[in-house]
Amino acid sequence: MLIDKDLLKKYNVPTPRYTSYPPANFFTGKFQYFEAVKSIDDSNNQQPENISFYLHIPFCSQLCSYCGCNTHITHDKNLIQNYVDDLKQEILLYKNHLSPNRKISQIHWGGGTPDYLSIGQIKNLMQLFFDNFEFIDNPEIAMECHPAHLTYEYMDELAGMKFNRISLGVQDFEVKVLNAVHRALPNIEINEIVKYLQSKSIPVNLDFVYGLPLQTVESFSKTIDKAIAISPDRIALFSYAHVPWVKPHQKILEKYALPEAGLKTEIFEMAFSKFTDNKYVSIGLDHFAKPNDELAIALKEKNLSRNFQGYCTRQTTGQVYALGVSGISQMNSAFLQNTKDLKTYSRKISEGIFPFEKVYFLNENEKIISHIITEIMTNRYVSSRQIQSLFNVSFYEIVAITRLDFSKLQEFKDEGLIEFSNFGITVTHKGMFFLRNIAAVFDPLMQQSGKKFSKAL
Ligand SMILES: C[S@@+](CC[C@H](N)C(=O)[O-])C[C@H]1O[C@@H](n2cnc3c(N)ncnc32)[C@H](O)[C@@H]1O
Ligand code: SF4
Repeated sequence: MLIDKDLLKKYNVPTPRYTSYPPANFFTGKFQYFEAVKSIDDSNNQQPENISFYLHIPFCSQLCSYCGCNTHITHDKNLIQNYVDDLKQEILLYKNHLSPNRKISQIHWGGGTPDYLSIGQIKNLMQLFFDNFEFIDNPEIAMECHPAHLTYEYMDELAGMKFNRISLGVQDFEVKVLNAVHRALPNIEINEIVKYLQSKSIPVNLDFVYGLPLQTVESFSKTIDKAIAISPDRIALFSYAHVPWVKPHQKILEKYALPEAGLKTEIFEMAFSKFTDNKYVSIGLDHFAKPNDELAIALKEKNLSRNFQGYCTRQTTGQVYALGVSGISQMNSAFLQNTKDLKTYSRKISEGIFPFEKVYFLNENEKIISHIITEIMTNRYVSSRQIQSLFNVSFYEIVAITRLDFSKLQEFKDEGLIEFSNFGITVTHKGMFFLRNIAAVFDPLMQQSGKKFSKAL
């Protein structure tokens, strides 16, 4: 048994996922546009200095019934081309505000399905970045791909454009599971795609989802064995988020008996053990990387970081500027979320203004809390000495800012979830499964909010 079942019962309560601090449901639509734009200008003088761009491509050709992403199902080529044209304008808007001394360290294409775009459209957008910005050496250029759209020619073109990380949405290898969730099947076998990309020195991530209809421990165990045999560089193992009140199309899956919480935990434990027994290092909880992967090395060296796009190293981490519908820019002092509505997005871009819909401006205290929570969620370690010197605050100020309740920390210690070490705390192996709960102790918003969050595990 990997996860202590009594502790699981105790800590499986609604808790933020902490992909950001504060979580996105604290962002507000009440803001002055000029203040949002000023936060972009101000970000030029803040850390990290590097620029990360996130491009959201919302289009997909077919709706997977489990999908929780921001998608728009379409076969309208004009709609897609107009969106690409709008993205170009948005890139140029950012160029006008970002200092030419800053360099791009990361471009992440997410969706929806970025590989639903034609190679010509991707080339156009990439060229605009190459023509208008400087890059660090070895920037990360990554794309989330639906394997059903990939051909050998398409992969050759991506390699030619310097894409150096591809993640493939596999979800499950069982065809009957994929059919049940209305998922298009790939034309090229996943192992062939991975081999081909790796032969071009492009590392590959595979995404899986557990908790889908018809999955059992036995069936998913075969999927995990197959994944390990394929030897991807990284693996993401997502717990299926069934949120039909936000994504009504998911209701259709309720005709199947969805795996209940106990079975999901069993599937997770099985997959976790198989990956770690086969030398994959667990990054966060739901990501795994080979021991020589830069994320595994960064974790060992306590240099891991994280943004909305996932885990990254401090080298590639930049302040994130998000392009396209629903994208969230993540800067040192502000979050800016774009509208989710395609028409509003297009209208605002044609008026030459940023399509922001919700924002959050962080005060100095919230930056400290954000740092502490990120350290726990990534490096599983936080040092009060480091925070004192980084933010020029005393230990007592840190305690006051986080409204830290030492009895809670002592409880985690007694339960074997953390250890006190060297003016800091270290999360133990047992505590790894309760990272969100441990992080929440440093979050004063959690102590006073009536907001809705998913359960911690
Ligand atoms: C944008 S998609 C990846 C690219 C492409 N659209 C695809 O499906 O292959 C990002 C990933 O989110 C995960 N995902 C989508 N909906 C989810 C849900 N409801 N719960 C958990 N994971 C989900 C899937 O693993 C998916 O591969
Ligand atoms: S899972 Fe991927 S392909 Fe399927 S609908 Fe969602 S974003 Fe589109």
